[in-house]
Amino acid sequence: MRSLKNLLVTGGAGFIGANFIHYLKKNNFNGKVFNLDSITYAGNLENLKGIEKNFNYEFVKGDIRDKDLLKFLFGKNEIDTVIHFAAESHVDNSISGPKVFLETNVIGTFELLFTAREAWTENSGFKKGVHFHHISTDEVYGSLGETGLFSETTAYDPSSPYSASKAASDHFVNAFHHTYKLPITISNCSNNYGPYQNKEKLIPLMISNAIEGKNLPIYGKGINVRDWLYVEDHCDAIWTILLKGENGRSYNIGGNNEWKNIDIVYKICEVLGSETSKSKSEYEKLINFVTDRAGHDLRYAIDATRIQKELNWFPKESFETGIIKTVKHYLGK
Ligand SMILES: NC(=O)c1ccc[n+]([C@@H]2O[C@H](COP(=O)([O-])OP(=O)(O)OC[C@H]3O[C@@H](n4cnc5c(N)ncnc54)[C@H](O)[C@@H]3O)[C@@H](O)[C@H]2O)c1
Repeated sequence: MRSLKNLLVTGGAGFIGANFIHYLKKNNFNGKVFNLDSITYAGNLENLKGIEKNFNYEFVKGDIRDKDLLKFLFGKNEIDTVIHFAAESHVDNSISGPKVFLETNVIGTFELLFTAREAWTENSGFKKGVHFHHISTDEVYGSLGETGLFSETTAYDPSSPYSASKAASDHFVNAFHHTYKLPITISNCSNNYGPYQNKEKLIPLMISNAIEGKNLPIYGKGINVRDWLYVEDHCDAIWTILLKGENGRSYNIGGNNEWKNIDIVYKICEVLGSETSKSKSEYEKLINFVTDRAGHDLRYAIDATRIQKELNWFPKESFETGIIKTVKHYLGK
């Protein structure tokens, strides 16, 4: 079991990073948490309002590509663990403007690895207990047909500039392990849902548009399938890997919870129908099919056997309860 003291969380003002910091506080983590985030359009410090109360937390506004800042942070704060969330994360944006995905997701990850390696080198090895955990996605594996699952041994085959940049960053993390022996783990997770997600993503977009009486735009025929995991379960999986994950190993994380996009939207309409004064069918009337996303992957699904068997991690939240919590969050309930 690793012992963790000074954590550098990157991208902690984003959706999953913020939930992870809340998870640490809720689970009484008693070390220090540094949140390095440049606050792009996707970062929101409101997600962490009041977090510093009774919690050893410091926010650092800065970019993961800023080598001098990274060097300073590692030197001053004796960082022993990096949990790397910061990224450009929206596939649609990667289609309209791919370059920043290369810059943040690939070069930014490289700069973090490079600084960690320099800061953690002692004599000819690494300081005891240091660790770099990289958060990645199942999208690196490409698209599945109607059957099959992605396992950790599935060959990488990314389709979008987003998934290509995440695949490249995963390769750099592995390369720093194989070449320099940097202690690392990687997790490749399916789609997350829950509180604090930016409204550009499917579930919060549909919930907030429905609340405002706006159209619910669905790509193509809505038949694309994704596996959905409640964000707190993802945070719990990351924490489990940090404590018990094998050095150099990748872990797939999933909810065993596949949904077609259109069925997710019907489900949201149903929950909104029971949580508000409008009916389910009034919300469903807002559904509007739009031109499909370029190169839209048909289906992603995860085989999470490794993390279940080796680290005894299982998701706790059911989709039935998780989606109600999520809708309530956006309703401000
Ligand atoms: N959301 C999902 O369903 C999902 C699923 C699997 C993996 N992931 C991965 O998890 C991580 C977090 O995803 P998310 O949905 O929370 O993303 P997000 O877009 O909500 O948040 C990203 C955060 O990173 C920060 N950031 C961006 N560029 C930065 C830079 N150059 N320097 C410092 N900070 C920067 C942003 O300000 C923001 O706070 C990403 O690496 C993503 O690839 C996400």
